[in-house]
Amino acid sequence: MTLGNSEGLGPIVDRFGRVHTAMRISVTDRCNIRCFYCMPNESVRFLPNKEILSFEEIVSVVEMLSPLGVKKLRITGGEPLVRSQLYKLIRNLVAIPGIEDVALTTNGILLKDQAQSLYEAGLHRLNVSLDTLDESLFERITRRTGLARVLQGIEQAQNVGFSKIRLNAIAMAELTETEIVPLADFARKNNLELRFIEFMPLDAEESWQPGKVLTGAAIKGIIEDAFGLLEPVESTEPSQPARNFRYADGMGQIGLINSVSEPFCSSCNRLRLTAEGKLRNCLFSTTEWDLRDLLRSGASVEAIRHRVRECVEAKKQSHGIDGHDFQRPAKAMYQIGG
Ligand code: 5AD
Ligand code: SF4
Repeated sequence: MTLGNSEGLGPIVDRFGRVHTAMRISVTDRCNIRCFYCMPNESVRFLPNKEILSFEEIVSVVEMLSPLGVKKLRITGGEPLVRSQLYKLIRNLVAIPGIEDVALTTNGILLKDQAQSLYEAGLHRLNVSLDTLDESLFERITRRTGLARVLQGIEQAQNVGFSKIRLNAIAMAELTETEIVPLADFARKNNLELRFIEFMPLDAEESWQPGKVLTGAAIKGIIEDAFGLLEPVESTEPSQPARNFRYADGMGQIGLINSVSEPFCSSCNRLRLTAEGKLRNCLFSTTEWDLRDLLRSGASVEAIRHRVRECVEAKKQSHGIDGHDFQRPAKAMYQIGG
């Protein structure tokens, strides 16, 4: 095989000049709750264990890509904390030369017990999903119980030393409006950074409609009515999807991730690795590039890097959710990794 430039050590750049320096890694499609905007309620068919990348396989993918400039990682699921001994994976990822930032997105249910080991493993940052502080609404959304455990998990994570924990809340019309002020209040009082993510067409039950998105602009209005005008905070990182704002009284910040109403595709720097070892160039990809079979058949590092570049070269300019020919991906959020 001749080694062209595309197999060399240059950065991973797509046709639109976007340099890919971040990877989201899903470690499982399993979850201990059933948020209706993500999973089906009943009879979910999960991947068999042998189809899921081992920790060693995940580490070897990252080792192959960090010399190409991948330096930020986010571990997702499903729910990543249901994967046994996740802290061991974190410990090994943090140690890879060139990896500068390892973050985790969790629903918080198992966080209380794992916070200490995750912190000791060197996890840099933590996002906890929290859509409501009301137990009955939590149960309607997740179709399970567990709000108290999530809150204890957040508290424990702070106690063991995690700072700058972020809360992610869904932004959904007729569901989120009443939760905004209580969540903002809770976040401000507990030194947490709250972010609202617009509901995207990635729910397994396919109930998404444009009218169900609560826009960032609407949320900003509700926040400003309660807390005074928000002041935009300049982003230090252009690929950061959240628009950040400071509260008028200087007490904390809030972020709006307007993925539907204001797509940020032009600055996207992300690759996504699914639990079964397929690489996606977008949440909304309808194609995937398999790395697992390459890894398991002993393919060379060059061959794997080549496939990664193929994936990125095929990346579209934007997700086109509002276009008339938009096609939902066949997979839902829990199968992709948020
Ligand atoms: N739209 C927007 N965000 C979603 N999440 C899950 N499903 C969706 C969806 N359809 C978010 C959760 C969580 C993260 C893992 O992904 O709120 O914060
Ligand atoms: Fe589980 Fe997260 Fe999906 Fe909720 S959004 S069902 S916590 S994977």
